[in-house]
Amino acid sequence: MKATCWFGKNDVRVEQVPDPEILNPRDAIVRITSTAICGSDLHLYDGFIPTLDKGDILGHEFMGEVVDVGKGVNNLKVGDRVVVPFPIACGNCFFCKKELYSLCENSNPNAAMAEQLWGHSPAGIFGYSHLVGGYAGGQAEYAQVPFADVGPIKIENGFTDEQVLFLSDVFPTAYMAAENCNIQPGDTVAIWGCGPIGQLTIKCAYLLGAERVIAIDRVPERLRMAREQGGADTIDYTAVDSVIDMLREETGGRGPDACIDAVGMEAHGHGIQYAYDRVKQAAMLETDRPIVLREAILACRNGGTVSVPGVYGGFLDKIPFGAVMNKALTIKTGQTHVQRYLRPLLERIRNGEIDPSFIVTHRLPLDAAPEGYEIFKHKQDDCIKVVLKP
Ligand SMILES: NC(=O)c1ccc[n+]([C@@H]2O[C@H](COP(=O)([O-])OP(=O)(O)OC[C@H]3O[C@@H](n4cnc5c(N)ncnc54)[C@H](O)[C@@H]3O)[C@@H](O)[C@H]2O)c1
Ligand SMILES: [Zn+2]
Ligand SMILES: [Zn+2]
Repeated sequence: MKATCWFGKNDVRVEQVPDPEILNPRDAIVRITSTAICGSDLHLYDGFIPTLDKGDILGHEFMGEVVDVGKGVNNLKVGDRVVVPFPIACGNCFFCKKELYSLCENSNPNAAMAEQLWGHSPAGIFGYSHLVGGYAGGQAEYAQVPFADVGPIKIENGFTDEQVLFLSDVFPTAYMAAENCNIQPGDTVAIWGCGPIGQLTIKCAYLLGAERVIAIDRVPERLRMAREQGGADTIDYTAVDSVIDMLREETGGRGPDACIDAVGMEAHGHGIQYAYDRVKQAAMLETDRPIVLREAILACRNGGTVSVPGVYGGFLDKIPFGAVMNKALTIKTGQTHVQRYLRPLLERIRNGEIDPSFIVTHRLPLDAAPEGYEIFKHKQDDCIKVVLKP
């Protein structure tokens, strides 16, 4: 089959690789009909996530048709149409029973490696380095899906692929990011980043009752989408002296009730702080550029919540933890517990409360995955989200 493989920084190629097979009774094989490139894939493409090998198959947002099932999978049959969640979860462990699926303790065969870095290991993730399992990803013609009796959700006809594809990751991620803010009537929510996650988080914050959303980015078409599709007010962070001052002014001097970092480890910025993080990251003295996280902590009102869907990998410098403590902030984060949200969010799509497909700007054949990565990374051609069709 054909698959999108990682070969190094800024180097992905569509290669011919062996077809996946059923290895365990709880596996299924899915023929992929739609798959997307995620902001998280850019961290791999930009070389910031360690433990990838040349030839590793990328991709963790995918859906398709079941073409084979193991003996232990009783809820799916050949021909079923499914969306597959990006974390791999067994359904039976301590964490899965608490619906903390992205922390499943049975799905990362390389847990020892993750424990060295983080103390404990999260779940395995499709196509996301050996640190989280070394599983082949879904930017391919076929994928092997472990614990297929737990993860995939069956989709009846009547939905287009693009309406349901984002149940695999970005829609639940946005929803959990907003849910983590415990939004109350009258709340103002500030969201850094207007990529796919930011756009959907704006929608979810309103769905969960926010009175006002203020979205921050610098890319004009992303800010425009945040206003026109999301109904957010926007701040171009390159056009103001201080985002923090601006947010204070916009909230009667108090600060937003909740601040969401939908940017993560590769934030941009200007001035000395950005230069500091760029140099330290390049010299491998710091793993991440936590410019947005610092800003979110400092901007948030006393007693508010900082929600962090943005991905971080390692050790972050100059985090104002004194502000977290003295302002009595709550910090909520995590890889998304996607399995928990599949049914309720499919219901919201069915009811017409939201159609996540509005973020799709580019549809390309699988063979064009390398171009897709370039266009998405550099935000060329007003790109917000790329869907690949194998
Ligand atoms: N927690 C999860 O399970 C999960 C799931 C999916 C994605 N993510 C993470 O969410 C983040 C966003 O993903 P995406 O697909 O939207 O990515 P993206 O790269 O398309 O979007 C990031 C946006 O942040 C903007 N940005 C950069 N610096 C900024 C700053 N200083 N202030 C404000 N905006 C700034 C960029 O211009 C860009 O539009 C990534 O870190 C990704 O890894 C996490
Ligand atoms: Zn993702
Ligand atoms: Zn589990």
